[in-house]
Amino acid sequence: MKIIKWILGSLGVILVLVAIFAFMTISKGEARLAVRYAMEYDDVMIPSDSASIALGKYIAESHGCQGCHTPDFSGDIMIDAPPFTVVPSNLTSGAGGVGTTFSDADWLRAIRHGVGQDGRGLVVMPSEAYYYMSDEEVGALVAYLKQVPAVDHELPRTKFKTLGKFILGVSDDFKLTPDAMMDSPRIPMPEKGPTVERGEYRASVLCQVCHGKGLTGNQPPDPDSPLAPDLRTTQSWGLDAFMRALREGETPSRKLDDAYMPWSKIGHLDDTEIEALYAYIKTL
Ligand code: HEC
Ligand code: HEC
Repeated sequence: MKIIKWILGSLGVILVLVAIFAFMTISKGEARLAVRYAMEYDDVMIPSDSASIALGKYIAESHGCQGCHTPDFSGDIMIDAPPFTVVPSNLTSGAGGVGTTFSDADWLRAIRHGVGQDGRGLVVMPSEAYYYMSDEEVGALVAYLKQVPAVDHELPRTKFKTLGKFILGVSDDFKLTPDAMMDSPRIPMPEKGPTVERGEYRASVLCQVCHGKGLTGNQPPDPDSPLAPDLRTTQSWGLDAFMRALREGETPSRKLDDAYMPWSKIGHLDDTEIEALYAYIKTL
């Protein structure tokens, strides 16, 4: 009998310890979510001429905004799982959209720094890539978004449930706003042309977030994604095969999974940009 009492007693102690640990971890996750980031506003002029709006459309399409915010930018519930609900916002000026309330500074903070209008960290929005966009391109992007047709679509916000808060409490790897704290220099955007410098700029905005600095291969932010390989292996492909990989998702040896390597969006880059990227990759 004594031994049974002892076992039950120990189990009780263990359960209490586990409960305390869980409670403390969830509280830590909650505290991280409660942080409000005070961001300096970027001083970028937002144009309104038609050439800038056309450039903004090109940037939005090639940089994957619609992949999450949906083709008409009205947003949707993208993931509804036990740890969290992930909801790319309605970016239009319809009901439920941010377009009616956002100032130019709000657009810039959200896109480049992953900080919401009320200072919340926009956890899923991949600002760690868009941070590197030049003033000219991010300005054109905002100009374009401000005039897309209004679509009424009321949505809940991205939400962390108890399990999600627990995950945030255990792991600091899960960054809330990578860029609120970020002060790495941006590569200045060179004139458009099939040059190494232009390719290096485009890679910094578009490829490096997944393929890593220097494109030597990395784990993309999506934990379910396969590794994004070292792109130096493409040096022997030749430009035509490289273009086919970005436009059709077809490499010399396999089909690329668009869910993880978003070629259907990246493929909107024009020939000059792809030539520039390849010229840069050949120097690595
Ligand atoms: C991987 C998916 C994904 C991509 C790609 C993406 N976003 Fe987002 N974005 C989100 C999510 C999800 C939110 C909602 C906040 C959160 O949970 O991070 C968001 C929030 C925003 C917000 C702030 C809206 C608000 O409610 O405060 C803006 C502005 C925005 N995105 C613009 C863009 C633009 C412009 C692009 C392309 C350059 C883009 N996003 C690409 C997922 C994405
Ligand atoms: C969202 C993450 C992501 C972004 C952004 C991204 N890639 Fe990828 N890329 C991947 C992943 C993951 C793979 C491997 C896909 C697979 O195995 O199906 C891959 C594979 C590739 C391949 C095939 C390599 C091989 O050896 O087969 C090429 C080429 C490539 N990417 C080029 C680029 C270029 C150029 C850019 C920027 C213009 C870019 N990628 C942006 C994630 C990304």
